[in-house]
Amino acid sequence: MTTPSSSIITFGPAEEPDRRQQFIELMRACPIPDGELLLNMGLFLTPQTLSRILFMDFLYQKVLEVQGVVMEFGCRWGQNASLLTALRGIYEPFNRLRTVVAFDSFEGFPSVDVQDGARMSQGGYATTAGYETYLDQVLRHQEQEAPLDHLRKYRIVKGDICQTLPAYLAAHPETMIALAYFDLDLYAPTRACLTAIRDRITRGTVLGFDELNDPVTPGETLALKEVLGLDRYAVRRYRYSARTSYLVIE
Ligand SMILES: C[S@@+](CC[C@H](N)C(=O)[O-])C[C@H]1O[C@@H](n2cnc3c(N)ncnc32)[C@H](O)[C@@H]1O
Repeated sequence: MTTPSSSIITFGPAEEPDRRQQFIELMRACPIPDGELLLNMGLFLTPQTLSRILFMDFLYQKVLEVQGVVMEFGCRWGQNASLLTALRGIYEPFNRLRTVVAFDSFEGFPSVDVQDGARMSQGGYATTAGYETYLDQVLRHQEQEAPLDHLRKYRIVKGDICQTLPAYLAAHPETMIALAYFDLDLYAPTRACLTAIRDRITRGTVLGFDELNDPVTPGETLALKEVLGLDRYAVRRYRYSARTSYLVIE
């Protein structure tokens, strides 16, 4: 697997990339023996990455008594899908119906719309070729850390979500959604997903959003405004991160 140069947009100070690179080199040079490596991954968590984990935990705890699956729209490297799988192992290891479904093209943005602003471009946020196969192995291992691991309780759905989500829902007519996390960054697929899930959400369903109110990614807010409206639900931000927010269907 070759590593692509990173295409992510960041807002840190000029010296941040160098500092981060030094930290990465420390991580790669980590002398901890294999038998203790996974136990010590917290060494490399930063406030930014830890707050992401805390947010996933916050969202997951909100849906413990809500029936339905967990979906991530735009999983990219799959960190959230892995975290959500681990959280299931902590909070409800015997909930065999709490499938975690991770969607992505794994080829970056299939297309961008004029509504998405100047900084989004086709192919942005691509993964390495075949990454979904690697992610499948990671999630399989993650699942094996909790009971009922003989039942596969995650799915990875590759392709343009404007097609794959309606197809998934048609193929799984029983699907109710307890938690959906939107991280597509773009107008058209966010709109398509909000539209597709409307008859699969219930009172209590939580919708998480990665980039509402962000001028870099205006499409996500536009899509929410058009499909659900901005005045109908309280859109709350997660207090430990500038951008992430959520609403509860009531
Ligand atoms: C910012 S990244 C997601 C990051 C990931 N959730 C995380 O926390 O690391 C946005 C993802 O949305 C995906 N995406 C955007 N539009 C898509 C579409 N129409 N179909 C499938 N995936 C799409 C991209 O491929 C990309 O991986």
